[in-house]
Amino acid sequence: MFKVAVIGGSGLLGRALNDELARQTGWQTVSTAYSRTSPRMVALDVRDSVAVERFIDRVAPDAVVIAAAERHPDVCERDPALARALNVDAVRMIAGAANRHGAWTLSISTDYVFDGTHPPYRHDSTPAPLNAYGQSKLEGERALTDTAEGGCVLRLPLLYGPIVSWSESAVTSLVPAIAAAAAPGAQAARMDAWAIRYPTFTPDVAFVIRQMLERHARGETVSGIVQWSGDEPMNKYEIAVRLAEALQLDARLTPQRTPTDATPRPHNCHLASSRLEVLGIGRRTPFDMAIREVLAAFPWQGQATSV
Ligand SMILES: NC(=O)c1ccc[n+]([C@@H]2O[C@H](COP(=O)([O-])OP(=O)(O)OC[C@H]3O[C@@H](n4cnc5c(N)ncnc54)[C@H](OP(=O)(O)O)[C@@H]3O)[C@@H](O)[C@H]2O)c1
Repeated sequence: MFKVAVIGGSGLLGRALNDELARQTGWQTVSTAYSRTSPRMVALDVRDSVAVERFIDRVAPDAVVIAAAERHPDVCERDPALARALNVDAVRMIAGAANRHGAWTLSISTDYVFDGTHPPYRHDSTPAPLNAYGQSKLEGERALTDTAEGGCVLRLPLLYGPIVSWSESAVTSLVPAIAAAAAPGAQAARMDAWAIRYPTFTPDVAFVIRQMLERHARGETVSGIVQWSGDEPMNKYEIAVRLAEALQLDARLTPQRTPTDATPRPHNCHLASSRLEVLGIGRRTPFDMAIREVLAAFPWQGQATSV
């Protein structure tokens, strides 16, 4: 029996990973949650070193995937201590505990470790984060590679996938404003058309992680830093246009050509995925197909028009 611990299994990526791993015969997955506990998840605060040790001791996993994080740039900017506790210290602690059990650790990082001025970025390009989130994730990468024997960091860009609220992903968080801009007599909604993103579908990332876990299980561990990204460049205005089409909303949308975010964000952090691609790892679902799947599955879909 190959045992995987998913730390942060209640999050956007963690849930997609649980679904992917549940299809794997002969594997057992133990997932943790923090605020969104359920009978299927173990409650764990990754800031509690004793609880982390106890969890890893009890589960004795073969592999640990760290998907728990503080991933909101504005929160990290306001509360750098929280960003450090979750994105750096917890990674070191979990990787240390996993080492003691001989478990392989895979930790999730972000394209925001780069400044976005010279895409595409390779796994060995020089990081230069622009904000506290990117800085904490970069320190988390170093904590992982310094601590975990044979450990791996998987960098990802903007994620979207099955949601439990519109705000869970920066892609679907545009839906309420799109719906409001489709109301009779509504003002046009301004959407950022400056930053270029590569929206990446969480079930595709889960598939990539499952392939990496399979490699580890057969003794072909992928170590160091790897990256995975969708291959369709879009700004938020273009994402909003495609969301409106999928929702069949006649929304009035206007492109905003200059950045307006309070927290500095990179212009274009396109991640080269070649290190995984040459290993035959990867899957990319076209955005228009994937987003329709997400919208169709969201149980409160009808509420979009009433927000
Ligand atoms: N979302 C994106 O667009 C994006 C882009 C690039 C990289 N990433 C990276 O991908 C990874 C997964 O992100 P995500 O979007 O799935 O994040 P998410 O939806 O915000 O989920 C975060 C997870 O962390 C858990 N968590 C929060 N505080 C915790 C604590 N004190 N102790 C234990 N667990 C805690 C949450 O548990 P509860 O929900 O139960 O509280 C949840 O399971 C992160 O490393 C993130 O930096 C995300």
